[in-house]
Order: sequence, then structure tokens, then C-alpha cells
Amino acid sequence: MAKSKTFVCSSCGASFSKWSGRCEACGEWNTISEEVPLSSGPASKSLGARRGSAVKLTDLSTQEAPPPRAASGLDELDRVLGGGLVPASAILVGGDPGIGKSTLLLQAAAAFARKGLKTVYVSGEEASAQVRMRAQRLELADAPVRLAAETNLRDILTTLEAEKPQLVIIDSIQTMWADNVDSAPGSVTQVRATAHELTTFAKRHGVSVVMVGHVTKEGQIAGPRVVEHMVDTVLYFEGERGHQFRILRAVKNRFGPADEIGVFEMTGTGLAEVVNPSALFLSERGQPTPGSVVFAGIEGTRPVLVELQALVAPSPHSQPRRAVVGWDNARLSMILAVLEARCGIPFAGLDVYLNVAGGLKISEPAADLAVAAALLSAREDVAIPAETVVFGEISLSGALRPAPQTENRLKEARKLGFTAAIVPAGGKIGSGGGLQLTRPADLTGFVGDIFGAG
Ligand code: TYD
Ligand code: MG
Repeated sequence: MAKSKTFVCSSCGASFSKWSGRCEACGEWNTISEEVPLSSGPASKSLGARRGSAVKLTDLSTQEAPPPRAASGLDELDRVLGGGLVPASAILVGGDPGIGKSTLLLQAAAAFARKGLKTVYVSGEEASAQVRMRAQRLELADAPVRLAAETNLRDILTTLEAEKPQLVIIDSIQTMWADNVDSAPGSVTQVRATAHELTTFAKRHGVSVVMVGHVTKEGQIAGPRVVEHMVDTVLYFEGERGHQFRILRAVKNRFGPADEIGVFEMTGTGLAEVVNPSALFLSERGQPTPGSVVFAGIEGTRPVLVELQALVAPSPHSQPRRAVVGWDNARLSMILAVLEARCGIPFAGLDVYLNVAGGLKISEPAADLAVAAALLSAREDVAIPAETVVFGEISLSGALRPAPQTENRLKEARKLGFTAAIVPAGGKIGSGGGLQLTRPADLTGFVGDIFGAG
């Protein structure tokens, strides 16, 4: 039988029987190329197969405490990991090239090594001397981290078996290659195979393995998404280029809450932890201006206050512009549509820009009301009082829904000197955190509350 060809998307890993210009699974263009499939493995009754055994769940000893997590002492990192590094876990750290992944992981390696964890940093992109130079720049040159510059997976695993480290950092997974796989480093097949080997190694030897994955826009190089399902924890390092803030976000974590974030600030000597992100995200705020609203959000387990900025202006284009940074484009269209349909406030013929200050990306529906407030404030050219926070979800009917963890949000606002909040009516909010509350029942009421009856 002729071997059929397989085509794989380098962005999401979906496979197809024929080539096309656009991936049907993830919608990316020019990401599909031909790949050699992984061998299908031995048939069911092949000779030499080992017979495994299954254990009853109730037979497992419950006396045994879970293995202790190792803390790095970098609180922002430890929190995102769910309280520290779990032994025998595989962790993927994705992010755009140049965002600071190598810097972050070298700092993490140094921190764990200083806590007594035997740590090896394998770089496939830089020579050991270059990594050492980076370590010097970051003032980490004295940390007991072992460095290796290697890309051949077989060599790496052989070395690691002898070294017996507790933590291994692989920078990056796209530069690694397994010599038993017949395709180029960085291809979907190769990236999957090496990630699988490394994950298996982590489980078998009780080592924590951190793999770096570049987010790529090119068709030939596989992105980190193709290995997300194999690992225990997926972290993304994100931030706007040109901004000094960087956010490490857990998008999947078998050992802790997902959606947890750690906030860092870029400095000349590496990444510094930001202990109070709200204060940082709000630090650039000046006098109250139309279009500016403070949203009290929850990121993971922590309340985070952030400024939303909107600009609404008559459009010179026949098709008005809608541009969003840090929030969902479709969600913005929805809010505009609800404002128009339920409150009779049209945005036709107006350009609308929305920006989340500080480079944070918000995905909570609770930001709806703050977005609506920013849009209306910009459109009407009326500033919302600076000491007010806003949050709540808007439904298509124009009804408002209370946000989860309302009390936590209010407490954080209070702590940062806010005195008033606009939140949907309903839901339990206890004492209201000592803030002066305005509680509209629906969007029309909300518009009336902030801009008077007119
Ligand atoms: P790098 O860690 O090499 O990014 P990545 O591994 O994601 O491609 O960082 C990119 C550049 O930014 C590098 O020249 C170092 C510089 N940088 C700083 O100067 N300070 C910092 O805090 C960080 C994170 C990076
Ligand atoms: Mg790098």
C-alpha cells in the first residue's frame, strides 16, 4: 500500500490529508506543510512487549504525603506554578521571540539552584559562554547552575541520566532534535517527538523539565501549541514590546489554578518581581480624563486593578475602525451592539479604540461594564471620577450580572485608595468593602447613573 502523505499545521498541530493555504482548525494562514508521521508503534502482540500491571486506586497508600514542591523564592514565579515546582513534572513556557523567556528561565534556574536544587540549563540557541555572559549581566554568575550547549536529544538525555539533576531547562524545544526522527529540527514531528521524550524522561526519573517554546508565525517552525497537551503545566510569557511589564500566565496547570499570573518588570539587570501589580498598572494615571476607567479584575487568585482607555472619534472611513489592545475584539463588538440596541446609543460612523494600560491582557467577562463605561465616557466626553472602580458582566439583553469575587475586588480597590464603585445590583457583597456603591440593575440604569437621566 502506498504511504499516504500527511500535512500538519505548525501552529496548532492539526493534521490533514491534503495541503491547503489556511488551517481549518485554527484559521492561521501558510502554516501547513508536509510532515513525516511518527511511526505507529508495534502491533498489539509484538514479541518482547512487557506486561504491565494496574493498581487498585484504594491500594495506593494514602499515608504518603504528596512530594514537596520546591520554591524558588521568586514569589511571582512560585505562585504561577501553583506554589512551587512539582517533582517529575513537565512545564512548557511559551512566548514571542525576544520577550524575555531565556532571561526569566536563567533567573529561575539560578534561584532554584541557590535553594539547593541540582539544576541544568541546556541551551540550543546560545553557546555556554554566551549563557555565562548573560548570567554575568544578570548578576547570577555565582549561582551553582550547570550549563550545556547541545541540541541532540540522545546526547542530552544520556548526560542527564549521569548528572541526575532535579531541574532541567531546555531552551528551546524548537532547536532540539531526536536522531531517530526523520525530519528537521523545529518541524511539528520533531518538536512533538522531543517534547514527548523529555516528558517521559521527567516522569521516569522524577526530574522537573521546563521547555521553552517560541511562538512562531512561520509555517516551517512548530509553535508551542503543538505540545501543550503533553505537558503538565503551560505557562505563557507575554507583554507588549516597548512596555517594561511582563506577565507570566498559567493557561494550564495540573498542579495549581489556571489563569494565575505573575508580574515582572524588565530592568537592565533582568526581570524584577512586581509585588503590587495594581499600583504598577495604575501608576501612569494622571488627572481623570474622558475614556479612562479603572476596572477591578481578578487574575488567577489575585485581584488586579487596571486602567481601561477608550477613544471614540468621528471616522473618516466608510468602514469605521474598531481596534483593541489587551481585550477581545468580538467582545467589544458585542458591547457596542448592546449599547446601540438596548440603550439607543449608536456608534455608527465613529472609530472606536480600546486599550488595556500596562500591556495586560484581560479575558474576564466582568470587564464588560468597565469597557461600556470607558466607551460612553469617551463618546460623551465626560470623565468618570478618578476614585471609582467599575466591574460587572453585560448580557445581550442589556441585563447586568454580578461578577464573581465581588468582595475581593472591592477590598483591593479600597486598599489602593478608591472610594466608590459601580457594580451590578444583586449578588452578595457583604459590607461592600467600605466603598460608596452605585448598583444599577441594567445597562440603561447604568447609563443613567453615570451620565444623569439624559
Ligand atoms: P531574551 O530573554 O533573550 O528573550 P527570549 O529568550 O524570549 O527570546 O530577552 C530578549 C532581550 O531583552 C535580551 O537582549 C535581553 C533583554 N532583556 C533585558 O535587558 N532585561 C530584561 O529584564 C529582559 C527580560 C530582557
Ligand atoms: Mg531565548
